[in-house]
Amino acid sequence: MRILLLGSGGREHALAWKIAASPLCAALISAPGNPGMAALGRCVPVDVMDNQAVVALAKAERIDFVVVGPDNPLANGVVDALEAAGIKAFGPSGAAAQLEASKGFTKDLCAEYGIPTGRYRRFTDAAAAKAYAATHPVPVVIKADGLALGKGVVIAPTEKDAVAEIDLMFGGAFGVAGRSIVIEEFLHGEEVSVFALSDGTDALFFGTAQDHKRVGDGDEGPNTGGMGAYSPAAIVTPALIDDIMARIIRPTVAAMAARGTPFKGVLYAGLILTAEGPKLIEYNARFGDPEAQVLMPRLTSDLVPILMAAAEGRLAGVEAHWSDETALTVVMAAKGYPGAVEKGSLIAGLEAAEAAGAIVFQAGTARNADGALTANGGRVLNVTALGASVTEARARAYAAVERIDWPEGFCRRDIGWRAIERERR
Ligand code: AMP
Ligand code: GLY
Repeated sequence: MRILLLGSGGREHALAWKIAASPLCAALISAPGNPGMAALGRCVPVDVMDNQAVVALAKAERIDFVVVGPDNPLANGVVDALEAAGIKAFGPSGAAAQLEASKGFTKDLCAEYGIPTGRYRRFTDAAAAKAYAATHPVPVVIKADGLALGKGVVIAPTEKDAVAEIDLMFGGAFGVAGRSIVIEEFLHGEEVSVFALSDGTDALFFGTAQDHKRVGDGDEGPNTGGMGAYSPAAIVTPALIDDIMARIIRPTVAAMAARGTPFKGVLYAGLILTAEGPKLIEYNARFGDPEAQVLMPRLTSDLVPILMAAAEGRLAGVEAHWSDETALTVVMAAKGYPGAVEKGSLIAGLEAAEAAGAIVFQAGTARNADGALTANGGRVLNVTALGASVTEARARAYAAVERIDWPEGFCRRDIGWRAIERERR
């Protein structure tokens, strides 16, 4: 089978690594890809937001199956365009991707179908939003409705902060994403990510993980796309997984089908484990980044037939098998991230890091005119290792980090700290 993978980040390198290992994969083409993905198959430049360009590429390359990595092309309807051209693709339609692309859409769906989530109200008017915020207990969560590169969520510690944030959002700080906002109850508890595949009707549990969204050790500093992750998240017990599948994931899949927009693809539920049980804070309609980098090394089943089954409505009875080991990934970012970063600094030592037992997934990397590997973005490398415990996986990952020669990069030093504290007890 000839497979086309859309995207160019660490998530896509991890998916490419797993897809290329499948006996069903005769050729993998990544678009646009990155230097890490180039080692697994050809990379072809394409604007993933240009649906017709993607369809043309898939036709020219005689592609049998397309896997979409990032959220924006999904919301832009790339799967609809591919399917209309008769090309099979893994990922939701543009209508179903609303689960990620509109926070208000998802909150309304939860309310209608009794899916556990925080109390909320939607606003399209600043004055009404401020009046509501004034009566709301703090902290209060203010969210831009649309996709805002992970930046459209603020936890306001005081009413004054809430008002300032409402003004910022309606003032256009997040463009059209902030024309409509959600004001939401702050949920207390630990945050976990739960993944499930859906074919529109059935759902298959597809792993747990815990991300580290703040840039600094001890979860300090600004939010990022994610500075490291591990899987499984042991705090999510088998009983909790059953509960989450029964009360959150399956009702969502049923609701989307009932609305005439069945969800096919990966449902990534961001949850808070509250004293009253798990509650949904958001859905993503794609794999997490860096969560895919810890799920893929643990998946012992062939990924390709599972993704095909989800795309073709044949998920019932399909099983996914996972290693008992823990995977942990440390994100190495360019200094300055999540703010402005400089591109072009030289990176060396990847072979030495892999010789130390890690897998290095590449994210924002490029090759310069001399063919040397350079930094080309905020999050640059994902140094990933497996171990019998989080403690062991973390020791291996950081031992590999030490072998990477990139003075312009940095990483958090405490990935997995919550789980490691629990393992020490
Ligand atoms: P989101 O983009 O919706 O995932 O929000 C970004 C981050 O804000 C999440 O990863 C949570 O850490 C936090 N967050 C969002 N909503 C809530 C909430 N209702 N209660 C507590 N924390 C939240
Ligand atoms: N790691 C967070 C995300 O992929 O949205």
